[in-house]
Amino acid sequence: MSSPRTDGRTFYDEVGGHETFQRLVHLFYEGVAGDDLLRPMYPEEDLTGAEDRLRMFLEQYWGGPRTYSEQRGHPRLRMRHHPFVIGPRERDAWLVHMKNAVDALELAPEQRQLLWTYLVNAAYSMVNAPGGQ
Ligand code: HEM
Repeated sequence: MSSPRTDGRTFYDEVGGHETFQRLVHLFYEGVAGDDLLRPMYPEEDLTGAEDRLRMFLEQYWGGPRTYSEQRGHPRLRMRHHPFVIGPRERDAWLVHMKNAVDALELAPEQRQLLWTYLVNAAYSMVNAPGGQ
């Protein structure tokens, strides 16, 4: 999905580039900041670093700048989530905030569907404690 289309525009470009991803991830972390289950999982007191990392990753995935890999190396997301216990409750809480953020972007229906399907699959694949804690 991150490869350029024939007209050279990527999904990243089509949905509005940096501004759109910045908005998406910022709205998501506003939700996380007020979530009693998720907030304590984040090691840093300030969520802006986590916000930057998720934004850079998503921008890269969808065909935008490759800043994530320049700064962080290969994503290896399952490995990077290993320190955190992610069961169905954590996954669903993550998806609630992400859905609110995606909905707020008011994308075209087919763009919204593509982005949302990816995020749901990605969240399910990040579960490392299937039975919960
Ligand atoms: C990092 C939780 C799903 C992408 C993190 C961190 C936590 C976390 C606690 C550390 C924050 C930090 O960077 O300091 C969760 C939970 C999930 C989830 C509870 C529920 C399923 C996802 C998904 C994606 C994702 C689906 C991608 C679509 C990332 C990225 C980082 C990160 C890119 C930063 C990795 C790095 O470079 O160190 N996540 N995450 N996460 N998460 Fe998640």
